[in-house]
Amino acid sequence: MYVCSCFGITEQQVRERAAAGAATPRQLASECKAGTDCGSCVRRIQCLLGRVRPAAEAPAAVLPAPAATPVYSA
Ligand code: FES
Repeated sequence: MYVCSCFGITEQQVRERAAAGAATPRQLASECKAGTDCGSCVRRIQCLLGRVRPAAEAPAAVLPAPAATPVYSA
Protein backbone atom coordinates (compact mmCIF):
# COMPACT_ATOMS: atom_id res chain seq x y z
CA MET A 1 0.00 0.00 0.00
CA TYR A 2 1.26 3.43 -0.89
CA VAL A 3 2.05 5.81 1.93
CA CYS A 4 3.37 8.64 -0.19
CA SER A 5 1.56 8.81 -3.48
CA CYS A 6 3.55 11.84 -4.62
CA PHE A 7 6.74 9.76 -4.75
CA GLY A 8 5.30 6.23 -4.95
CA ILE A 9 6.67 5.14 -1.55
CA THR A 10 5.03 2.12 0.04
CA GLU A 11 4.61 1.11 3.68
CA GLN A 12 7.10 -1.70 3.06
CA GLN A 13 9.71 0.77 1.80
CA VAL A 14 9.18 2.98 4.86
CA ARG A 15 9.56 -0.03 7.17
CA GLU A 16 12.72 -1.13 5.36
CA ARG A 17 14.23 2.32 5.72
CA ALA A 18 13.20 2.43 9.38
CA ALA A 19 14.92 -0.93 9.91
CA ALA A 20 17.99 0.52 8.20
CA GLY A 21 18.09 3.39 10.67
CA ALA A 22 15.72 6.13 9.50
CA ALA A 23 14.08 7.35 12.68
CA THR A 24 12.39 10.57 11.59
CA PRO A 25 10.35 11.71 8.58
CA ARG A 26 13.21 14.06 7.73
CA GLN A 27 15.73 11.22 7.63
CA LEU A 28 13.35 9.23 5.46
CA ALA A 29 12.84 12.21 3.17
CA SER A 30 16.58 12.61 2.71
CA GLU A 31 16.67 9.11 1.28
CA CYS A 32 13.52 8.97 -0.86
CA LYS A 33 11.80 12.39 -0.71
CA ALA A 34 8.68 10.91 0.91
CA GLY A 35 6.67 13.64 2.56
CA THR A 36 8.40 16.53 0.81
CA ASP A 37 5.75 17.47 -1.73
CA CYS A 38 2.15 17.86 -0.52
CA GLY A 39 2.97 16.64 3.02
CA SER A 40 -0.28 14.74 3.45
CA CYS A 41 1.61 11.52 4.18
CA VAL A 42 3.83 12.82 6.99
CA ARG A 43 1.50 11.76 9.81
CA ARG A 44 1.30 8.23 8.39
CA ILE A 45 5.08 8.14 8.00
CA GLN A 46 5.44 9.22 11.63
CA CYS A 47 3.15 6.36 12.65
CA LEU A 48 5.15 3.83 10.64
CA LEU A 49 8.38 5.10 12.16
CA GLY A 50 6.84 4.71 15.60
CA ARG A 51 7.08 8.38 16.39
CA VAL A 52 3.38 8.86 17.05
CA ARG A 53 0.55 6.50 17.76
CA PRO A 54 -2.26 6.20 15.24
CA ALA A 55 -5.22 8.39 16.13
CA ALA A 56 -7.31 5.37 17.15
CA GLU A 57 -4.72 4.44 19.80
CA ALA A 58 -3.97 7.94 21.01
CA PRO A 59 -5.37 8.86 24.39
CA ALA A 60 -8.17 11.35 24.45
CA ALA A 61 -7.04 14.91 24.78
CA VAL A 62 -7.01 16.17 28.30
CA LEU A 63 -8.90 19.39 28.39
CA PRO A 64 -8.43 21.87 31.19
CA ALA A 65 -11.23 22.15 33.68
CA PRO A 66 -13.62 24.95 32.88
CA ALA A 67 -12.93 28.15 34.70
CA ALA A 68 -15.10 28.77 37.69
CA THR A 69 -18.00 31.05 37.01
CA PRO A 70 -17.29 34.39 38.62
CA VAL A 71 -19.63 35.33 41.39
CA TYR A 72 -20.42 38.99 41.51
CA SER A 73 -21.78 40.59 44.57
CA ALA A 74 -23.42 43.98 44.68
S1 FES B 1 1.74 12.03 -0.48
FE1 FES B 1 3.72 12.20 0.32
S2 FES B 1 4.38 14.20 -0.19
FE2 FES B 1 2.42 13.99 -1.08
